[in-house]
Amino acid sequence: MSYTGSAPTHCSTPQLTTANRTCNQAVRPLTAALGPRGWEVGGCALDDLASEFGTPLYVMDERTIVTACDSFRSALAARYPGESDVLFASKALCTAAISRLVHEQGLATEVVSGGELATALHAGVPAERIYFQGNAKTRAELAFGLRSGVGRFVVDNLEELATLDDLAAKEGKVADVLLRVAPGIEAHTHEFIHTGQDDSKFGLYIPGDLDAAVRRILGSNNLRIKGVQAHVGSQIFDVAPFVAAAELGLDLAVRIRDEHGVTIEELDVGGGLGIAYVEGDDPPAIDEAMGAVARATAEGARSRGLPLPRLLVEPGRAIVGTAGCTVYEISTVKRHDGGKQYYLVDGGMADNPRPITYGAQYTCDAVKPPAQATAPRSWVLAGKACEEGDVLIREAALPDLRAGDRVVVWTTGAYCFAMASNYNRQPRPAMVLVEDGRAALIRARETYEDLLARDRLPDGPPFAPGAGRGVQGPGSR
Ligand code: LLP
Repeated sequence: MSYTGSAPTHCSTPQLTTANRTCNQAVRPLTAALGPRGWEVGGCALDDLASEFGTPLYVMDERTIVTACDSFRSALAARYPGESDVLFASKALCTAAISRLVHEQGLATEVVSGGELATALHAGVPAERIYFQGNAKTRAELAFGLRSGVGRFVVDNLEELATLDDLAAKEGKVADVLLRVAPGIEAHTHEFIHTGQDDSKFGLYIPGDLDAAVRRILGSNNLRIKGVQAHVGSQIFDVAPFVAAAELGLDLAVRIRDEHGVTIEELDVGGGLGIAYVEGDDPPAIDEAMGAVARATAEGARSRGLPLPRLLVEPGRAIVGTAGCTVYEISTVKRHDGGKQYYLVDGGMADNPRPITYGAQYTCDAVKPPAQATAPRSWVLAGKACEEGDVLIREAALPDLRAGDRVVVWTTGAYCFAMASNYNRQPRPAMVLVEDGRAALIRARETYEDLLARDRLPDGPPFAPGAGRGVQGPGSR
């Protein structure tokens, strides 16, 4: 059992996985348990899943996702006296099955690209439940959004607004708009600061751009203003930045009312609630964070003489992060005399670029801890990419394992598959959704054929499907 940098004192205590923690606070999925078959998630032994579907394998726990969706929805419904909506930021994990599952839980969907929009529509999310966000949407993407009839465009800048106006006029449509502002609030994991100004690439600058945007909307027959949006960051461990975003949104609603005579109906405070990746990470529970936002919005609207806005939040990581884990197989055990010792696994930065990109930390376990476990020692859990920095966990406290044994890295549900690449020409892993002892394949493992299918040899014959057969990697399915 390995917690980066922490003492491995609780090797066989599966009850720790859920004890008194809501789903964004635990470092394993809610259903994770250590039984005679090793670690299980959703009633499925990870070892069996790895044998059936190959490795690396993303495993998503349905119960944890459903619980997270419900926690957001019920926290707002219980604590906010007005209407509210929870938007799943699909950038965290965008596949058809996940989009459909989250939609079925009553959440709306936030997309930031044509690809995410296509996925949500394919999954059966009704267009009016889709919010089209994104800071550099292309003309083609805006046209796709308009044609599809998405419920809201979250407009980032004046250029985009002009293009949307133009396209909407040509198509004879009216686009409902939320204006994204650059909030001038910097949220870090453990603190936030008001910078007062913002030169971020996101959002309309306050007040100049915002005023110009409102004027443009009011002067157009094809645009309708619905509200404002302020997103302050990601992996936030404090409720204060969310409260600050709500306060800012209300101040802007006052400004828009006073300067332009328009009432803002919707206030979107963005996403960003953190999750625990390692022991000691202590994000506020979903209920606590949503309670604080609800209170601040309700009281703030009242004290400013504003009608209660429809309150929107956009969680991504806190919906899917904790639900996911990745199972790897150890390819090689390497020891340097008197130096580091490595478990080298069959994946790494291609399926989880977060450690090398952000220095992100993770927790891992042996999938089947040996019966006579030796005291865990510190291992480097490293990937197979040709980069010294391709390390998943620098100090993984794991028992002695051998090549062929399997390791699970927890909390990989958000921004791992979403940011995965084919670096070193590695096929992306498969993904299964588990619940009540059943596993559904929701993303097939990529094959060498997939990798080759879009390559073209100038003047050569097109790639013949089937040509890649016989050279598929271990675990290919
Ligand atoms: N809304 C907006 C406007 C956003 O930009 C984001 C995330 C979200 C909502 C969802 O944030 P979440 O609840 O997931 O924190 N790749 C990074 C995270 C980038 C987040 C980008 N925006 C990572 O792996 O940590």
